[in-house]
Amino acid sequence: MAQAHYTKTTFALAMIAGAAVIVASYRAVPAQTAAVQVRSVWDGVYTGAQAGNGAKFYVSDCASCHGKQLEGIDDAPALAGKEFMESWDGRTLGALLAQMRKMPRDAPGRFSSAEYADTMAYILSVNKFPAGKSDLPQEIEVLRQIRLEATKSTPAVPAPKK
Ligand code: HEC
Repeated sequence: MAQAHYTKTTFALAMIAGAAVIVASYRAVPAQTAAVQVRSVWDGVYTGAQAGNGAKFYVSDCASCHGKQLEGIDDAPALAGKEFMESWDGRTLGALLAQMRKMPRDAPGRFSSAEYADTMAYILSVNKFPAGKSDLPQEIEVLRQIRLEATKSTPAVPAPKK
């Protein structure tokens, strides 16, 4: 009796595991990215309205550690200026979002995707990158196609480094 029960349970678990594997592999199929077009932060990738909104989030949730001028305090690095651009030059906004998602450090992931995008727009504006006509995208895959560049480069943009 106990043996039969055991077998039934094992069978049921195997079925569930099998289904999970099927679902997982189905999900693992990568989203097809349409024509990959690499842009840079010099192409007007956010709007002024977004940056204005982001300023509020920055002041309430980030400034206590990173400084009112984004200058960095103690072990919280600067998010604007020479030091910031030296470490981020050639990397992508996707990589920056990945770091930002670990923030606020005392409550990671508290922000919605829209709030992270607005806050990033604010960081870009303080770094004096030009605003444009369309909002900064919220999707990390799209942000991985936008390069941070300390100086404006000529049109042919090489592939971003990770
Ligand atoms: C409680 C303090 C604290 C708060 C609040 C905080 N941060 Fe941070 N942040 C840090 C520290 C410390 C580091 C460096 C260590 C690390 O990466 O965890 C850091 C790292 C970062 C980095 C990576 C910088 C780099 O050059 O590698 C980014 C980007 C960042 N924070 C953005 C934000 C944003 C945006 C907010 C507000 C949503 C925020 N942080 C809130 C303490 C904080």
